[in-house]
Amino acid sequence: MATITETKLNPRIGIVVGSNRPTRVCRTVAEWVKRAMQRDDLNLDLIDLAEIGLPFLDEPKVPAHHLYQNDHTKAWSRTISGYEGFVLVFPQYNWGYPAVLKNALDYLYDEWARKPVSIVCYGSHGGFQATLAMKLVTQGLHMYNMSTNPPLDIEDEMFDEHDQFKNVEVAFSRYKQPMQAGCGGVRRPSEREIASSTTSKNLSSLDSSTGDEAQEEN
Ligand SMILES: Cc1cc2nc3c(=O)[nH]c(=O)nc-3n(C[C@H](O)[C@H](O)[C@H](O)COP(=O)(O)O)c2cc1C
Repeated sequence: MATITETKLNPRIGIVVGSNRPTRVCRTVAEWVKRAMQRDDLNLDLIDLAEIGLPFLDEPKVPAHHLYQNDHTKAWSRTISGYEGFVLVFPQYNWGYPAVLKNALDYLYDEWARKPVSIVCYGSHGGFQATLAMKLVTQGLHMYNMSTNPPLDIEDEMFDEHDQFKNVEVAFSRYKQPMQAGCGGVRRPSEREIASSTTSKNLSSLDSSTGDEAQEEN
């Protein structure tokens, strides 16, 4: 009984696998993130967009209205509603984020809003342009951007002849401690943390409207 209660109280964190190419490394990176974050008081799940297989957004109404017509949208809404926080794991593609990830985010609104999110992007310079781009998107979704967003630097020497990691543990060993210290604390941040976060400080002037208004205006 104690175990059931404890399990129920532990926050459920969804680690989104944000690329879907057939030869992607994102699943390997996300599995590493899950191992790095592992703690007794967190329930961590991978949410693999390649397995979810959403089509390009095909709902007639804007997501903020919550009038979903398609079964795949209703199922996606139920999945995301079940989590208290998220870690988005994705590569940098041409200074941005993969289309499959943006599409998955765009399907919903309330299910993401007011939940903490950490961004774990990888690329040749840690994917910092894509991290910045994603922070705007998560700000638009009214998520709480956490301060732990490790930029995972990838280099050619890390990969074998099939473009897969030779050893992901070795490749990312220097990020393990920050991941444990930071993302392990994914939770609803305090008002003080929200006020002092980079996105709040630098981006609040871009969108002071509610999400519903923003979606209606756009
Ligand atoms: C379409 C595409 C665009 C890319 N653009 C960038 C880029 O702008 N900066 C960068 O550092 N790496 C870039 N890369 C390299 C990726 O970071 C690298 O291939 C990574 O393994 C892709 O992740 P994935 O295997 O999960 O798809 C790009 C790769 C692809 C496929």
